[in-house]
Amino acid sequence: MKVKVDRELCSGDAICSELCPEVFEMDDENIAIVIVDEVPEDAEEACREAVESCPESCIEITEE
Ligand code: F3S
Repeated sequence: MKVKVDRELCSGDAICSELCPEVFEMDDENIAIVIVDEVPEDAEEACREAVESCPESCIEITEE
């Protein structure tokens, strides 16, 4: 599974990095970045939760 964040839409709510720190981190501009190429299997559930919880709906699953 792969994910990406649309930097234009991210408002820095940091819910993703709280729910799934294995995959998301906040950068210097307080925008979420994806820190892994492939989401580890044991982080997939938390990652999906982050996708659903993002208030701006700016996390996209690009590959299942
Ligand atoms: Fe941005 Fe959504 Fe995360 S707004 S910081 S991608 S929860």
